[in-house]
Amino acid sequence: MPKEVPERSAERIYDAFAGEYRDYSENKRPYIDAVDREIVNYIKGPIGEVLDFGAGDGVRGARLFEQLEASTLIQVDISDAMVTRCQSLGVASRCMNVSGTEWDEFKTKVDLALCLWNVLGHIPTTSQRVETLKLLHTRMKKDALIAIDVNNRHYEGYGYWSSIGRRAIDAIAPNYSRGDIIFDWEINGVKYPSSGHFFTAAEMKDLLGQAGFLIEKMVAVDYQNGAVSEQLTKGQLLTIAKA
Ligand SMILES: C[S@@+](CC[C@H](N)C(=O)[O-])C[C@H]1O[C@@H](n2cnc3c(N)ncnc32)[C@H](O)[C@@H]1O
Repeated sequence: MPKEVPERSAERIYDAFAGEYRDYSENKRPYIDAVDREIVNYIKGPIGEVLDFGAGDGVRGARLFEQLEASTLIQVDISDAMVTRCQSLGVASRCMNVSGTEWDEFKTKVDLALCLWNVLGHIPTTSQRVETLKLLHTRMKKDALIAIDVNNRHYEGYGYWSSIGRRAIDAIAPNYSRGDIIFDWEINGVKYPSSGHFFTAAEMKDLLGQAGFLIEKMVAVDYQNGAVSEQLTKGQLLTIAKA
């Protein structure tokens, strides 16, 4: 019997989107490559175990794994179709669905966790996002690093004046739920009800702090051209933090 997948869930969307994902990702290469360069330059491999959380089709994590000269790659995702793609690449030693018992029972502590391209923004609520970060923290060695990038609610690329307006209201009366969006994602002519979340820099500092991480670096990476800036309105938010 086919598995029941909730409407508006990441699982449903990415199962449907898995076949188109590679082309979609290649179109964002300036952004993705810039984030990856920041990670590789910061970490300066070789390192041990890497956990790629929300790995998608696994191609990006496998590329980073090689660049970091890491010893072991573990890839997990919520979409079965994506986990199958990670498995078929044959690079990761383990590929798991986060909804399965294999992941529940997985106790290896890693040296680096990757949580790349707004994986956190697919998790529906603030408390679930914190729980996910806490769970990742428990799967990491002491002083291991996490590299995480998310959509930025204050990105000027979404509109200069709207960035100013959002920063003003978020400074006066912070409320993370303002970053929640719902929309229809059209995949092969079918509209899939979808949802997501845009974060602020203060929110990322708060959530990572609640989960026990210590922030080492936060930069903005332009979503169109990959330019990296210390000014946190200039792109998506990339954070590197210590467990
Ligand atoms: C935009 S893709 C990014 C994939 C990959 N990290 C990359 O950069 O190419 C987001 C991925 O997060 C996964 N995802 C969403 N919610 C998740 C969750 N709660 N746990 C694990 N993976 C999740 C989706 O299935 C999807 O593959």
